[in-house]
Amino acid sequence: MSFLFKDLKLRSLTAKNRIVVSPMCQYSSEDGFATDWHLVHLGTRAVGGAGIVFTEATAVAPEGRISYADLGIWKDEQIEGLERITRFLKTQGAIPAIQLAHAGRKASRMTPWEGGGAIEDQDVAWQPIGPSAIPFHAHEPAPHAMDLSNIQQLKADFRQAAKRALQAGFQIVEIHAAHGYLLHSFLSPVSNQRTDEYGGSFENRTRLLLEISADLRDVWPEEFPLFVRISADDWMPDRASWTIEDSIRLAHQLKEVGVDVIDTSSAGVHPEQKIKVGAGYQLSFAERIKKEADVMTGAVGMITSAEQAETIIRSGQADLIFIARELLRNPYFPYQAAKIVHEKDFQWPNQYVRAKLK
Ligand SMILES: Cc1cc2nc3c(=O)[nH]c(=O)nc-3n(C[C@H](O)[C@H](O)[C@H](O)COP(=O)(O)O)c2cc1C
Repeated sequence: MSFLFKDLKLRSLTAKNRIVVSPMCQYSSEDGFATDWHLVHLGTRAVGGAGIVFTEATAVAPEGRISYADLGIWKDEQIEGLERITRFLKTQGAIPAIQLAHAGRKASRMTPWEGGGAIEDQDVAWQPIGPSAIPFHAHEPAPHAMDLSNIQQLKADFRQAAKRALQAGFQIVEIHAAHGYLLHSFLSPVSNQRTDEYGGSFENRTRLLLEISADLRDVWPEEFPLFVRISADDWMPDRASWTIEDSIRLAHQLKEVGVDVIDTSSAGVHPEQKIKVGAGYQLSFAERIKKEADVMTGAVGMITSAEQAETIIRSGQADLIFIARELLRNPYFPYQAAKIVHEKDFQWPNQYVRAKLK
């Protein structure tokens, strides 16, 4: 009996297996609108058999986009294109999930294939915001340090975005609080040097994420799960930074406000981070949070084989396996994984049954 293909109860939902399409920016939107690319890209991965399919980081405000081509959910007109996607994902038995995001001081960039640098054309660029006026790259202009009215606006933007996500048919919302983007930059002392109630102590630095999580738990239906993606560690042991111990403490609090799953990534807050990259390099973070905070976790990062994924679930290190690049290379990974771990009941779409691996 495979553990990777065992279903998982998430509030009123049941994920048909533990494989999750990790959020991946596609840089294929115009003015934040979903396009045919998103439908085909996400739809293909649902056809491929993943239990949960996440959109990319979806901006709650236009200035919360990393690039001008990011997906957005800051206005009602954007709902329709997203709804088209969720409708299709559901026909394939996948749970449609959306990652809500604000890029903070890492906003206003070119797409990766244009080099990913700050947008230089001042007609296109916009002013990034952050907890403090500290740029990510020392040579770049500082972000605008948010005042309390900016913070209230951000909270309202997240609430509104979650309401729109519900209207668009999503059933899981994930708050993006990782990779050096806005909410992570509030958590970490590397980027947050505020002296008000949103900076300084652990309680103050975690306040914004906890408030937004509680707000979303309030507007997001009781029967649907809420995930939070965190960077469990800044990988900067030589200076005051965010550590796995902080993450375990935070996970306890997130659980208390009704967060169901901690999606455990790492890093992104400073260019001088020293990441020990390797197969499953973030797995120990997911395992510690699961065990020490007694909350469900998602493991992510260089998980590329069926055996590896099966072992993680079987040994109780995490509850879900988020996969990004392997699912870009091979959207039918779940199909092949099912064969490798001897899962006989894996359902393939009727249209493809003749291709079933024996
Ligand atoms: C093309 C691409 C876009 C990504 N965009 C996002 C994103 O929008 N939000 C996010 O939290 N992580 C993003 N990531 C990170 C992935 O979700 C994942 O955490 C990371 O790639 C490690 O998993 P992997 O080794 O399976 O690729 C992105 C990764 C890739 C390759």
